[in-house]
Amino acid sequence: MISIKSAREVELMRQSCQLAAKTLNYIETKLEVGMSTEDVNTLCHEFIINNGATPSPLNYHGFPKSVCTSLNNVICHGIPNKKDILKDGDLLNIDVTTYYKNFHGDTNRTFYIGEVSEELKKLTQVTYKCMMEGIKICRPGARLGDVGAIIQEIAQDHGYSVVREYCGHGIGREFHEDPQVLHYGQKGTGVELVPGMTFTIEPMINLGQRYCKVLKDGWTVVTKDKKPSAQFEHTILITDDGYDILTLDPDGKQEPTI
Ligand code: MF3
Ligand code: CO
Ligand code: CO
Repeated sequence: MISIKSAREVELMRQSCQLAAKTLNYIETKLEVGMSTEDVNTLCHEFIINNGATPSPLNYHGFPKSVCTSLNNVICHGIPNKKDILKDGDLLNIDVTTYYKNFHGDTNRTFYIGEVSEELKKLTQVTYKCMMEGIKICRPGARLGDVGAIIQEIAQDHGYSVVREYCGHGIGREFHEDPQVLHYGQKGTGVELVPGMTFTIEPMINLGQRYCKVLKDGWTVVTKDKKPSAQFEHTILITDDGYDILTLDPDGKQEPTI
């Protein structure tokens, strides 16, 4: 069942989403070579708690940390730890989900650590474009297959591949709600969008092949071919005439540094 949010619910949810976006803007200012993903987790955790919210990932189906930190060949759901030290040339995705006033807000970005290769910059920029063009398709009457199709087309036009095992999702009072938002598919198919729907678009785009596997920790998703992967995520609302990106920081930067 897809829940349609009232204006009142949207305003509460927007507050949670804005806090998630602010957390990413905050952590970006702290990232540096030599820090651990555990340090990233601690800083994000404290920022979220100090703003009166809680981090949704912590204890979610047993997830042990407050944010996901996914480095290089890690596609998603990387677990912050003391051994993973940020080094020059890394791609680091930080996925933040906040729970505030009974609503979840979910957003992630891929950050450059130090000086990153042109190949990895291109992958990251195209991945951001995939997310944004997917968002721009959204309006009442459009279909989720339209979103998936444009993302797949852009990724494949650049020789990249789209991860299929993980997808975007409805979000609101629950972290993961209906519908599933696939990042591949066919135009004119799937759920028709209506005002008041809230969901994420969060394409995971691989430099090499699309195949993935989950490590023995039960969470960390890596590329089978060990090549890098990038991701961006926003939570959006379907409005009467289009979309509204909820996970933007009204006081801070709106676009990633990529
Ligand atoms: N934030 C992720 C998403 O975009 C989900 C993380 S689940 C966790 O859906 F348990 F790994 F945190
Ligand atoms: Co999500
Ligand atoms: Co997320």
